Amino acid sequence: MGVADYILYRMARNWPSPMAKMTKKLQAEPGTDAYHMAYAAQQFDYRVSNGISRSVRGLDVLEIGTGHGGIACFMAAVGAKSVVGIDLNTRDLRYAREFARQLSEHYAPFKLPVEYAEMTATKLSFRDATFDLVFADNVFEHFTEPEEVMREAYRVLRPGGGLLVPVFSSIYSKYGLHLKHGLKLPWANVFFSERTIIRAMYRMAEIEPRIYDWYPGLSGDPKRVRDLRLYGDLNDITYHEFQRMAARTSFRVESFAPYGTRFGKVLSRVPLLGKSILMDVFSTGASAYLVKPGERTTPRPAQPAAATKVDALSGGGVHR
Ligand SMILES: C[S@@+](CC[C@H](N)C(=O)[O-])C[C@H]1O[C@@H](n2cnc3c(N)ncnc32)[C@H](O)[C@@H]1O
Repeated sequence: MGVADYILYRMARNWPSPMAKMTKKLQAEPGTDAYHMAYAAQQFDYRVSNGISRSVRGLDVLEIGTGHGGIACFMAAVGAKSVVGIDLNTRDLRYAREFARQLSEHYAPFKLPVEYAEMTATKLSFRDATFDLVFADNVFEHFTEPEEVMREAYRVLRPGGGLLVPVFSSIYSKYGLHLKHGLKLPWANVFFSERTIIRAMYRMAEIEPRIYDWYPGLSGDPKRVRDLRLYGDLNDITYHEFQRMAARTSFRVESFAPYGTRFGKVLSRVPLLGKSILMDVFSTGASAYLVKPGERTTPRPAQPAAATKVDALSGGGVHR
């Protein structure tokens, strides 16, 4: 074991878990059905308290990487005309559907206009110009082909529609490596190589075997940190690259703003430095709103081309 390996491992052992607050809030054992359902509910509740920065009333919305689906339910509940949540993760989609079913019972006889589909965001089975808003929260750093996703979002948006990204994180941001459950400490990739990080993860998993549940790739032969994840879904995106992608896919960047750490907030006011890679480091994420140029057209109902893939909660609507 080298010096770097030893230092990182010792730090990880003593670092407090940044997930402890969330686990306490959800009042359930991570990995259990109760935990997943509580997670969907907190996604919904968080948005009830904080909104999503833009009105979705009357809009046809697509949420890409919907996960446990609570935000899609929120948008449906606050007046979106229709919401489709898509994800690759069949397990999370099961919880999303169950949460929507329970919520629909709560709202009955109002039919919550939400449905979910298993689909990759790199190849959407929707016709061109189907949606007014594409919503992507906490996902842009997870797409293996983020530019392809942006191109697809552009294609399925109506002219004048927008791609709303409430948060995504640069690989160099505070928890950009997404190892909150294992290594716990922030910015590890700024100071240590990925090989050192993976070796520390092995040692942490000897003490806490549940780390294998969070990072199943650890039992394979991971070369990079992304290999630890179930779907290998972590890219190397930076804020600069995100904005370049937006320009390449013909989006107009209406807003882009990093969420600075305490020091990052100061840094963001310094010309040049506030737009440099240092801003990635001293941030916890960034938000963006990208617009597809053109006049807004009369909305048509969202219509997936491959209707069989979409699991509506009831025939013709979304209520069971
Ligand atoms: C960190 S989770 C975020 C989930 C949810 N948006 C939230 O904020 O809780 C990232 C999600 O992106 C999904 N994902 C990754 N790559 C994807 C792809 N190509 N197409 C669709 N979903 C994808 C993952 O399965 C996962 O559910």
